[in-house]
Amino acid sequence: MTGPLLVTGGSGLLGSAVRELHPQAVFLTSADGDLRQFDIAKTLLEEIRPSRILHLAGSVGGVKANAGQNSRFFEDNALLNLSVLSAARALRIPRLVSMLSSCAFPLFADRTTTEEDLQTALPYDGNIGYGYAKRMLDFQTRLVAKDEGFAWTTLTPVTMYGPHDSFDSEEGHVVGSLIRRCWSAKTTGTPYVVWGSGQAVRQFVFARDVAHVALDAIEDNRESTTTVVAADSGITIRSLAETIADVMEYRGPIIFDPRQPEGVLIKRLQSTRFVSRFPAFRFTSLRNGLAETIRWFVEHASSVEAAGDRPSQNVFAERR
Ligand SMILES: NC(=O)c1ccc[n+]([C@@H]2O[C@H](COP(=O)([O-])OP(=O)(O)OC[C@H]3O[C@@H](n4cnc5c(N)ncnc54)[C@H](OP(=O)(O)O)[C@@H]3O)[C@@H](O)[C@H]2O)c1
Repeated sequence: MTGPLLVTGGSGLLGSAVRELHPQAVFLTSADGDLRQFDIAKTLLEEIRPSRILHLAGSVGGVKANAGQNSRFFEDNALLNLSVLSAARALRIPRLVSMLSSCAFPLFADRTTTEEDLQTALPYDGNIGYGYAKRMLDFQTRLVAKDEGFAWTTLTPVTMYGPHDSFDSEEGHVVGSLIRRCWSAKTTGTPYVVWGSGQAVRQFVFARDVAHVALDAIEDNRESTTTVVAADSGITIRSLAETIADVMEYRGPIIFDPRQPEGVLIKRLQSTRFVSRFPAFRFTSLRNGLAETIRWFVEHASSVEAAGDRPSQNVFAERR
């Protein structure tokens, strides 16, 4: 196998975790080119000549951003995935792993969702644009794998968190924004406000765990169907907020604001494939993962403040 591993979305939460584990890969960010455009994607692949691709780029938003802009999330992600996968097919790159999302799956009142449910009933309305683009990614991956005999597949991580997350208190994901708000409450005396009732149940997985699984999958994949990557069956947002407060040693009040969006009440995915595909893998506990994320956030708090969100990093553009 010649040619480097190429990682799209190299500045993101998951891309940064892959960079820690496999720094010799080539990492692309949007500064290297807008991958929604096929010509740009193809030119970059021709220049890099990768032997395998971890396609992690995505237009990702928190609960508020998604609900307000479903059409934009659909277009951005559908274009991005179509152009990267079509360029990879044109260059005949035989190994490619992409990321789906729990938002692509339907949810059921009476049972847990598994991988077999992916293309059945409609996904939750609040994220339907993003979710449907991810369904198309699943289809394109499986169809190309079948027609071309490529070892292409997808993973479906539940909500990720970790160092390099977006810590924007308004637009970020739940873990990053709660860490930011708890830290602000602790350091400035403002209230630690949690959106929604606190009763919603969500699953979280440490981004480094997903990076390990993705690097494993790119070398040794035999199936094009997706695999859910979930560390456990989930916790309430109240428990998450309290654990963050505990790890941060914040002793003040926690205020739940039911006027703010919290999304669907219970979102729970269970894998019927993970253990047989990755039998030796052991997940990081939520408490240990949160402790490491909070340590990273506190160390980088001033640059996160200055950048408004997260410190920027760009590798490929600087090398050219
Ligand atoms: N975060 C989660 O909880 C979660 C859960 C399940 C699945 N996923 C999926 O996992 C993947 C990685 O997620 P993440 O949280 O690491 O994402 P992220 O932190 O939001 O990073 C997104 C990455 O994609 C790049 N990107 C966005 N639009 C682009 C474009 N038009 N052209 C080129 N690059 C572009 C960004 O580059 P810039 O930084 O330069 O903008 C950034 O590197 C995504 O596909 C996401 O849908 C995420």
